[in-house]
Amino acid sequence: MSIRPQPDRVIIFDTTLRDGEQSPGATLNVEEKLAIAHQLALLGVDVIEAGFAAASPGDFAAVRTIAEQVGGSGSPIICSLARAVRQDIQAAAEALQSAAHPRIHTMISTSNIHLKYQLKKSREEVLGIAQEMVAYAKSFVDDVEFSPMDASRTDPEFLYQVLEVAIAAGATTINIPDTVGYCTPKEMGILIQGIREHVPNLDKVMLSVHTQNDLGLATANALAAIENGVRQVECTINGIGERAGNAALEEIVMALEVRKPYFNSYFSRPIESDTPLTNIKTQEIYKTSCLVSQLTGMLIQPNKAIVGANAFAHESGIHQDGILKHRQTYEIMEAAAIGLPENRIVLGKHSGRNAFRTRLQELGFHLSEADLNKAFTRFKEVADKKKEMSDWDLEAIVRDETQIQVESGFQLEHVQVICGDCTCPTATITVVTPGGKILTDATVGTGPVDAVYQAINRLVEIPNQLIEFSVQSVTSGIDALGTVTVRLQHQERIFSGQASDTDIVVAAAYAYVTALNRLYRYLQKQPDKSKSDASDTAAVNC
Ligand code: KIV
Repeated sequence: MSIRPQPDRVIIFDTTLRDGEQSPGATLNVEEKLAIAHQLALLGVDVIEAGFAAASPGDFAAVRTIAEQVGGSGSPIICSLARAVRQDIQAAAEALQSAAHPRIHTMISTSNIHLKYQLKKSREEVLGIAQEMVAYAKSFVDDVEFSPMDASRTDPEFLYQVLEVAIAAGATTINIPDTVGYCTPKEMGILIQGIREHVPNLDKVMLSVHTQNDLGLATANALAAIENGVRQVECTINGIGERAGNAALEEIVMALEVRKPYFNSYFSRPIESDTPLTNIKTQEIYKTSCLVSQLTGMLIQPNKAIVGANAFAHESGIHQDGILKHRQTYEIMEAAAIGLPENRIVLGKHSGRNAFRTRLQELGFHLSEADLNKAFTRFKEVADKKKEMSDWDLEAIVRDETQIQVESGFQLEHVQVICGDCTCPTATITVVTPGGKILTDATVGTGPVDAVYQAINRLVEIPNQLIEFSVQSVTSGIDALGTVTVRLQHQERIFSGQASDTDIVVAAAYAYVTALNRLYRYLQKQPDKSKSDASDTAAVNC
């Protein structure tokens, strides 16, 4: 093996579709994963970890579909995770077959605690498996990434040995996971330095880190690793992932962008060099963040760095005064840099289809005729109620109308609610079942949303527990669109739905039906169909 030239920039390995999808409740179907993968390609990530092919038939299908439809030449590397076992590696290789640039990412635990309690294997056994399985992965693809799981809690001497063996067996990328988010930035630097000094064949591979966020240090640890010579970072959009999540892609990329003069010195470049340190098109960050939040149902906290609703908002009088005098007094980056649209009032109910299409194109939405028609019809309905439509309203409408619909499911036909301080909140709901039956029911509840959800539950008869309900206003003002996000649980799984409307009770009903349809489709795929067949037979028809 020859020395591998290290790139003069950071390789962005996005694992939103694998580690990100391991966030409780973030389960995505194949169509949703495909939509995110297309957007990740537009964003300019170098590697898309599309899933864990051996984990389930759904994961396999997602990796294969992404390899086929996003993995053409000139597109990102498509990667599948695989434990260091033959069946996993075979599944990954098969799912990745049509990718122009496939990568198998194989991993095995190396810390004492994992070896003793989880793997129940000796160090010698782990060394043998790492060697054998990297070589096995290499028999399918040239590009093999190896991760010693729980590396940051592994005895360094043993870690150096495993890495040397994996590289000798053909690994092309060595990834160092801080699996339980235990490291501090200084320790991460020491860990990377140690690896660079003690693994003799390290110059043949790309060095990478995977930093979890259990102590809120994931981004800091990834940046510390970069300062110490790491040139690939694993990260996710909005920082989603197992437990407290991963390093957030947008935070790493914008830190490297905004603090370029500081980081340039670690890349043997002139300090003043303006060449970007990643290949990410930062103007696509905001759109990607919204898409991932919408499809996973994982809301972004308002104070989240870069993409939170407050990230560019200034509340204090002193700050506002400074901003008005000179933006850079209190702003280190412009909202436009991440593609956050200004909240400009652009259209109203008299605006025509052409103006609507043109503004959407300016915002970066290039819709098919069918989606444009749906979005325009909805725009007219909303514009009738809401005089002025801002860019943010347009985005909410487009997100609602173009969201991936499940192939089969319930359609909400009609929502009517009576409520007030002297009335028992009552909802009347009409749905069309997947079999085409029109069903209506009416129920009282503790409030209007409770009444709506109870009526829908009586019609669809799918057991579930509502575990999260939230309303966010898209814009300010009394006539603002409200976006409702719901998460519901069925047994161990969580399903989410989102919808926007000027009437939050209507938005709540649509969001709930979207989540129920995801659950319905999941149940349809389970071997015991009796759970879901009730839908066409048991609802009350009045
Ligand atoms: O957290 C972890 O260790 C991982 C590896 C598979 C990279 O996700």
